[in-house]
Amino acid sequence: MAVVGLRCQVILFALLIMASVAYGAKLSKSHYYRTCPKLETVVRNKVNEIVNADLGMAPGLLRLHFHDCFVRGCDGSVLLNSSSNSAEMDAPPNAGSLRGFAEVDSIKAEVEKACPGVVSCADILALAARDAVVKVGGKYWSVPLGRKDGFISSLVEANSSLPSPFMTFAQLVENFAAVGLNAKDMVILSGGHTIGQAHCAVVIPRLYNFSGVPGATDPSLDPTFADMLRTLCPSDEPLTFVGQMDATNGTFDNEYFTDVKSQRGLFSSDAALLTSPLGRRIVRESAAYPGSFLREFGKSMVKMGNIDVLTGSAGEIRRVCSAVNNNGNY
Ligand code: HEM
Ligand SMILES: *[C@@H]1O[C@H](CO)[C@@H](O)[C@H](O)[C@H]1NC(C)=O
Ligand SMILES: *[C@@H]1O[C@H](CO)[C@@H](O)[C@H](O)[C@H]1NC(C)=O
Ligand SMILES: *[C@@H]1O[C@H](CO)[C@@H](O)[C@H](O)[C@H]1NC(C)=O
Ligand SMILES: *[C@@H]1O[C@H](CO)[C@@H](O)[C@H](O)[C@H]1NC(C)=O
Repeated sequence: MAVVGLRCQVILFALLIMASVAYGAKLSKSHYYRTCPKLETVVRNKVNEIVNADLGMAPGLLRLHFHDCFVRGCDGSVLLNSSSNSAEMDAPPNAGSLRGFAEVDSIKAEVEKACPGVVSCADILALAARDAVVKVGGKYWSVPLGRKDGFISSLVEANSSLPSPFMTFAQLVENFAAVGLNAKDMVILSGGHTIGQAHCAVVIPRLYNFSGVPGATDPSLDPTFADMLRTLCPSDEPLTFVGQMDATNGTFDNEYFTDVKSQRGLFSSDAALLTSPLGRRIVRESAAYPGSFLREFGKSMVKMGNIDVLTGSAGEIRRVCSAVNNNGNY
């Protein structure tokens, strides 16, 4: 009788483990409590040091996590260098504009010193994005952990999965829906454009020959703002920086929504948020209630951080974030 009971327990236990593996074992806040208790402190200290040295690394680290999650899920694939195949980082939406790669490598090196071989690059990206946002004025959210790193990174996939700044509201909703995020997440997460910079290439089509009409300006742009953008971005200077994406680009606040509301959104995709009733409502609310926007941002970031994660026995813990282990030989 006792033997049968024990065997039942063993079988039940095994079934439970199999079930959790099959269901992709969820991420958890306590994932590294035992194996790397100092993780969050190590990452936060390093991110603070990096952002103190270069404020532009705050937007850089936030955008890296976003571009990681939208292509093959949050699996660190954005960090892999091109090898025999061209990697995500060399895709048009990333090449020449994503920043923070060397900095992520340096965070990983610190983490490896504290707990060798334990923490994934995908988790480091998720923590670094949160810490960067908090460092420049955003509100803290806790980051569920336990992602593993993937083996594949493809230029073609990044080029077709990442949203374009020329998309309409409906196209943006569809692009986010493809990774399980809804229209509200899309509008709220666009608030990430409250920090950082952009290249003139993205706005030039709105300033000089909108819809292919020579001399035409995008009518959804505030005329004074358009004049200012033309001074910053001559038609033949796509590689020049517009500089800021909102009026307070060094601070994570709700200014982005105030700007969008008054037709001073930088990209067509920012202006597009006003073209739907739902978008207009969330833009207005976020502009009116900063605290509410900052809270919602954290919630949507947690959802984004869950996209197609590898957990359990899938994937690996990379030793260096820019390359898979063992030269990819397993
Ligand atoms: C809604 C669809 C989105 C589109 C079409 C879009 C597009 C872009 C583009 C074109 C740039 C400028 C790149 C350059 O010219 O250098 C940019 C920058 C940026 N994006 Fe987005 N983005 C979107 C959503 C997001 C989300 C969800 C986040 C984060 C939550 C985000 C965070 C950023 C940040 C922080 C920058 C500044 C990067 C820097 O200064 O290095 N974006 N985005
Ligand atoms: C990227 O995608 C665009 C259209 O979505 C396409 O025109 C372009 O050729 C692609 N570029 C590469 C390098 O795959
Ligand atoms: C903010 O904009 C200025 C130029 O307008 C730019 O030099 C600076 O790097 C931007 N800040 C960040 C954090 O990207
Ligand atoms: C005007 O638009 C055409 C096609 O849409 C493009 O090829 C051309 O480079 C644009 N000119 C300027 C000055 O942006
Ligand atoms: C990836 O590329 C960067 C920049 O070229 C380089 O510094 C880094 O060492 C490379 N990583 C590996 C593992 O070769």
